[in-house]
Amino acid sequence: MIHVDPAMTDEEFLRLFEKGIHGQWGSDQIDWGQIDGISPEKKQALGQLVTPVYLGEQTAMLGVSSVLPMILTTGHAEPALYLASMGLDEARHFRNLNHLYRVLEVEPLPSRRLPEMWRYHARLLQKHDPVQWVFGILISDLFAKTFYGGFAARFPDTVVGRLSRRTLQDEARHQAFSDRYLNRMLPTMDAEAKKELLVLRDDLFRIMEKLGGRLRGAMEVLEWSPEEFLTELWDDTERWVKRLGLVERVEAAD
Ligand SMILES: [Fe+2]
Ligand SMILES: [Fe+2]
Repeated sequence: MIHVDPAMTDEEFLRLFEKGIHGQWGSDQIDWGQIDGISPEKKQALGQLVTPVYLGEQTAMLGVSSVLPMILTTGHAEPALYLASMGLDEARHFRNLNHLYRVLEVEPLPSRRLPEMWRYHARLLQKHDPVQWVFGILISDLFAKTFYGGFAARFPDTVVGRLSRRTLQDEARHQAFSDRYLNRMLPTMDAEAKKELLVLRDDLFRIMEKLGGRLRGAMEVLEWSPEEFLTELWDDTERWVKRLGLVERVEAAD
């Protein structure tokens, strides 16, 4: 139920919303001409490796627009406000990658070469529960973070590195949102619902392992490996799962 005049007392989400507003930026803040030093072979590899992130940014737009009405119609105006700013972030990320492909003059992988990304997308869409969605968005943000972090480290003084670093600042706010939202909601959930979050995590990781295998060749061009990528992402995800108390709470409730 939407309130005409909500009290707006949840300072944590309101502060995050203000940060979201002040953190906005446009494509004019990126020097798109900085492509020196990226060899044609590396450009091709980037074209392949950016593909899952590119689709992921669109999945993130869908995620935000699915979860926003669920949260707003249950009377939680403050987190819904924040999500509106997050939707603009994801739209910017999507637009920037679209432009990056033109600048690098390479193509993303065709869909048929990355069926796992569609499986990943479909797995997230299965759920109509806002907590499942936010948890899926968190894992997707960590997935994007691992890619952008890898690009930033490998191409520090180019458009790829600068764009990645700038995007990572937005992703950090998204993680702060997931942290606050999940911390509020987890205590209200039963053990079964919490276990479902871990099932979602495991399903997404199984899909990402297959995806990693397909991207191995391109990763090797950038002196990267699917194992290195997945270990970093898994460790990051586990830190969150523990920090949210998800593992302990599930075990304690058994
Ligand atoms: Fe994003
Ligand atoms: Fe994000």
